[in-house]
Amino acid sequence: MLEIGVLVSGRGSNLEAILGSIEKGVVKNARVAIVISNDPKAKALAVARRHGAKAVALEAGGDSREAYGVRLAEVLAKHGVEPGKGLVLLAGFMKILPESFVNLYTGRMMNIHPSLLPAFPGIRAQQQALSHGVKVAGCTVHFVVPEVDAGPIILQKAVPVYEGDTEESLSSRILRQEHRLYPLAVKLFAEGRLHTEGRIVRRER
Ligand code: GRF
Repeated sequence: MLEIGVLVSGRGSNLEAILGSIEKGVVKNARVAIVISNDPKAKALAVARRHGAKAVALEAGGDSREAYGVRLAEVLAKHGVEPGKGLVLLAGFMKILPESFVNLYTGRMMNIHPSLLPAFPGIRAQQQALSHGVKVAGCTVHFVVPEVDAGPIILQKAVPVYEGDTEESLSSRILRQEHRLYPLAVKLFAEGRLHTEGRIVRRER
């Protein structure tokens, strides 16, 4: 059984897609052991509990980035999401993690980002894409490395950008694809079908 920890900060729609894919048996031999939010008001906490997943708020408070990473690792390990064994998913998690934490979960921590990386890393990626005038946008699931939005790319999905698109309309078109892409990446990982060599992630058919 793959023990998954999900780190969230907000709405929790990607979390819900992942929980749903486990409930439906699309992702097998995996369970969400713990959902951790740095914001106690995050809707994602309620989403988790509604699906019967354990959810806790862990605020950074006055902690340094480093100290917060240590506390996160403790909570994950306590719930069976151990380095070298579990899987950590960033799903709209808005804090930058320290290198020490990222290194604990090398190759076992994923993030979803609403752009076709390496274009438009960082915040408001969809608005960045619109402002740049690109005609194709999309989303990326990647392994997490210390540099933000920069790790080996697991899956990507493109969507068209239409004239008259707003940040909202483009975001919702991308989000629909995020909800398919992230569970698929988790499924491939749980089935041992992702093989990484340097920057390249190969998907076993
Ligand atoms: C998504 O757009 C995701 O790509 C980005 O943050 C947003 C999280 O949305 N990293 P939700 O909380 O999963 O609904």
